[in-house]
Amino acid sequence: MQTTVKKLSRKIEVARRHGADNVAKALAGKALQLPLSFVFGADRWHLRGFHTTNYKKMAVDIARTVPGRLDVAVEVGCGLGDVLGRVPARRRVGFDIDRGVISWARFLRRPGGARPEFAVGSFDALIRHEVREIDLLIMLGWFHYMPDDWIGQQMRALLAAKRVRYVLVDEFPEQKGRIERLFDGLGVRVDRRHDWQDDKHLLLYRCDV
Ligand SMILES: C[S@@+](CC[C@H](N)C(=O)[O-])C[C@H]1O[C@@H](n2cnc3c(N)ncnc32)[C@H](O)[C@@H]1O
Repeated sequence: MQTTVKKLSRKIEVARRHGADNVAKALAGKALQLPLSFVFGADRWHLRGFHTTNYKKMAVDIARTVPGRLDVAVEVGCGLGDVLGRVPARRRVGFDIDRGVISWARFLRRPGGARPEFAVGSFDALIRHEVREIDLLIMLGWFHYMPDDWIGQQMRALLAAKRVRYVLVDEFPEQKGRIERLFDGLGVRVDRRHDWQDDKHLLLYRCDV
């Protein structure tokens, strides 16, 4: 009973901080997207949309602070492109290993304008991709599933193959600073922000120094 009350007051607090408009948008989005999650057979996690997810809003804010021209932004593990689709880059390319979520993301792309491109795959697909220079590389919400050695190897291979100016990653408390230490060896940290909702940190690195 106590846990239920705690969970409910937490939900109310989160809703209050995002505001009624955002909660309404999130609920409407969920209702519209639920059937699509069945059609595309992708994880229901993706129903957690932009409007009531603080780290996604933070990631877009941080992307806006990247110095210089944002010609190319890439996200590995992009899901539906909630973050990537809002990054103000001329070209946006998202990769995800889940074929269903990539089909779903393509279905959601609005016609017109410079629409994000979506491809199935991970770092290996990005390394093979024709893009040579990346102004901002984003990886959010999945590094905590992966071994540190794997992340290190993938990042070193990528940095050897492409020029990457900035990297945005996140780290959960249970990772005990391992992502931060790993990326401190790959670039210069220029931003570190705490997400009050998921209790994780977003870290921005400059990698072309
Ligand atoms: C929790 S979701 C986050 C999606 C998106 N980054 C966001 O924040 O909205 C994690 C995503 O990472 C993808 N993923 C997991 N392992 C991956 C890998 N090795 N390479 C590429 N994508 C991966 C999953 O399929 C899933 O879509």
